[in-house]
Amino acid sequence: DYVKRRPPRNFPPRPFSLPFLGNILHMNFSQPHVGIQQLAEKLGNIFCLQIGSLQFVVLNGFPMLKEALVHQGENFAGRPKIPIIFENFKEFGLVQSNGHAWKQQRRFALSTLRNFGLGKKSLEERIQEEIRYLLDVIEEERGQPFDPHLHINESVSNIICSITFGDRFEYHDSRFQELIRLFDESLRLQLSPSSQFFNAFPNIMRFLPGSHKKVFSNWKKVKCFVRQELERHREDWNPSEPRDFIDAYLTEMQKTADDADSSFNEDNLLQSTLDLFVAGTETTSTTLRWALLHMAMKPEVQEKIQAEIDRVVGLSRQPVMEDRPKMPYTNAVIHEIQRISNIIPLNVPRATVCDTTLAGFYLPKGTTIIPNLTSVLFDKNEWETPYEFNPQHFLENGEFRKREAFLPFSTGKRVCLGEQLAKTELFLFFTSFLQKFKFQAPKNRTLSLRAQVGITFSPFPYQICAIPRY
Ligand code: HEM
Repeated sequence: DYVKRRPPRNFPPRPFSLPFLGNILHMNFSQPHVGIQQLAEKLGNIFCLQIGSLQFVVLNGFPMLKEALVHQGENFAGRPKIPIIFENFKEFGLVQSNGHAWKQQRRFALSTLRNFGLGKKSLEERIQEEIRYLLDVIEEERGQPFDPHLHINESVSNIICSITFGDRFEYHDSRFQELIRLFDESLRLQLSPSSQFFNAFPNIMRFLPGSHKKVFSNWKKVKCFVRQELERHREDWNPSEPRDFIDAYLTEMQKTADDADSSFNEDNLLQSTLDLFVAGTETTSTTLRWALLHMAMKPEVQEKIQAEIDRVVGLSRQPVMEDRPKMPYTNAVIHEIQRISNIIPLNVPRATVCDTTLAGFYLPKGTTIIPNLTSVLFDKNEWETPYEFNPQHFLENGEFRKREAFLPFSTGKRVCLGEQLAKTELFLFFTSFLQKFKFQAPKNRTLSLRAQVGITFSPFPYQICAIPRY
């Protein structure tokens, strides 16, 4: 249970705290990871913070995260019950589930994504098709300043639609627009002050009005949308020819219908589908927005990539994944963009699944753990120039160089389930963008890397020009 106000003996150190409110003064609510980095400098690689009834242990630096998430992987494979999330999703699906159900759901989703020969098109072909639509809408901007946020969001969401529902939507489809709006608003409101208060004081906030109530009603609408898709699938589902994730899941439900241990049921189907959207759209879309911003601000890097694209891919065909091994510079830049953009600065919270010890401290079962990714992506013992954009971090003698501390997808048993999909999307979108357009700041305007904290750490809205290269 996460509600433990008094720490047990030999628990990690906690800075001075106020009665009831706890370490509220130590939190930098506008940029929590910055405040936590500062505390780590003072308190070391493992410490504890408490706010209201929430208490969590923060882990810092590559060696500490590796020890916990990899060497003691099983012990740290749980998720805590965060009240605002638990209230909406219980422990169903992929992200919030625990134990046996999580293992079953994760294994199924991974293998379904991996063998994505579902329907007639491969996953790579689906992504390439979606990219062609996106390039067309960018071309319609005719080199004039535009904000790429919505176009990129629609396009990346459509890839998840294609995987889960079997088909993409037209960008102007009103149901699609409403779905994107609901996701966007719910995720944003989940971080609002009233939702944070709900997390710290659920039993009081449950009876008070506020935007946390809107979060609940929005998720109900999103679930209703997915349920309609589910019903549509049931009508013309053919178990021998799964078209998409939902079809494959229905088959799995049928296969395991007599198994008392099976977690393949409608609640988990609904939630796993939702989780693919929640985890798989804003993340990729935010990274792509950072990528375009860096390109427009670093013309010499952009030109070097375009030279590599022209040499390896040329102009007459779309980039494919087979091109990547021949493009070490482009690959290094994509990795460096992910590292420096640090879009999930404090990771997704974990929980210990049994009593354990870490670095000599006792962590009872159910302790909430924050494996701080910022402290790894900027670890000064791992990176030559941690705070500087430097593709050389991933290059050696002109070849791509893998780095152990490159953990934007986290690591261990609950490492991002969509890592391969995300890497495929990032490479194909990024190279297709730069093959076709030169990105630059609008005339007489300068771009900045200022960021905002939301569900991801993302650039402030910006406008950019995409000048066709040919
Ligand atoms: C979990 C990052 C894209 C699906 C995670 C976690 C991180 C992460 C940090 C938490 C892992 C942990 O607890 O240790 C990212 C980044 C992405 C990305 C940076 C893009 C640049 C995607 C995509 C999908 C996806 C495209 C869709 C398939 C998931 C799921 C989980 C997850 C389902 C929960 C896994 C579990 O709890 O077992 N991701 N992700 N992610 N991600 Fe991603």
